Amino acid sequence: MQEQLSQVNQMIAEIQDFQADTKDKLELFKSNYIGKKGAITALFDQIKEVAPESRKAFGMELNRLKEIAQEKFKILSEIIEAKNEAGSSKPTDLTLPFIPNALGSIHPLVQTRARIVEIFERIGFTQSEATEIEDDYHNFTALNFPPNHPAREMQDTFFIEKKQAGNDEQSDILLRTHTSSVQIRLMQKQKPPIRSLMIGRVYRNEAISARAHCLFHQVEGLYVDEKVGFADLKQTLYHFAKEMFGKDTKVRYRPSYFPFTEPSAEIDVTCLICKGKGCNVCKYSGWVEIAGSGMVHPNVLENCGIDSEKYTGFAFGMGIERVTMLKYQIKDLRLFTENDVRFLRQF
Ligand code: DAH
Repeated sequence: MQEQLSQVNQMIAEIQDFQADTKDKLELFKSNYIGKKGAITALFDQIKEVAPESRKAFGMELNRLKEIAQEKFKILSEIIEAKNEAGSSKPTDLTLPFIPNALGSIHPLVQTRARIVEIFERIGFTQSEATEIEDDYHNFTALNFPPNHPAREMQDTFFIEKKQAGNDEQSDILLRTHTSSVQIRLMQKQKPPIRSLMIGRVYRNEAISARAHCLFHQVEGLYVDEKVGFADLKQTLYHFAKEMFGKDTKVRYRPSYFPFTEPSAEIDVTCLICKGKGCNVCKYSGWVEIAGSGMVHPNVLENCGIDSEKYTGFAFGMGIERVTMLKYQIKDLRLFTENDVRFLRQF
């Protein structure tokens, strides 16, 4: 069915691009697409080759295609007719319909990303970036993951270049497993006060399922200055949750462990699907985890040349997919990367 659907989409694009300024071209459009021997009729003949459970959906797509073609034919006919009349010295008819362009929609992850940026920009966060290909030092060691420490295994890593045994593992080259690596790059080149968001793609060597993917997106937040405390972290994420999910959203902090923060907390919000009553998405707890967070570990500040006696900071990291799933009640992560227009058109 995928193959047939892509034929339909391709044909829609062709139809929308088709230009005709003469009657001959209009006839050509008719015979190519809407005539008895045209391409759309041929696609209708393919219905029987589609699996029975997909036939209804495919039929609906074909009807949509047919309507688009008929509408285009009507518009082209009107334009050519008006042109012929204009040729006979009538003024151009300015009330003629325009040829509509095919409008796409903005991908839900891009919409969520934009909303997150908007919320944090208003409270003074800038944006920072770094590369997706990283070395072990920035992805792990500088973030206070000791060499050979089991915490490294919390994140299954795609290695690009592993140095020979006995060599320093800090120079292994890998795909970043989290955007926390950008914190390091930022603090190495900029001194406090720092208030920044770091957004981008991250990679984990995991089997793809409805809840996990080998590629996803994270937003990292970092705030380092004099006298930054845990209360600032709490209030910032509380503000975010209310702005993102609505003012009735409740937030809770659960003690957790990350090598790069101390103390660390995981942040849950009330499940938007069951409104906290309990459902299979929140595993009947009424809460869904949206972020990891904590006070930046003094070792991390020192690794970046920042005086940990003078400065403190908080950091958080959350998945854009997770936030989007919660906001739009999407139950399968794979939908984000399948490019199925029936899904994307809903946003
Ligand atoms: N990097 C963590 C992960 O990918 C998420 C995270 C947790 C980021 C705590 C943070 C933080 O900045 O403070 O699982």
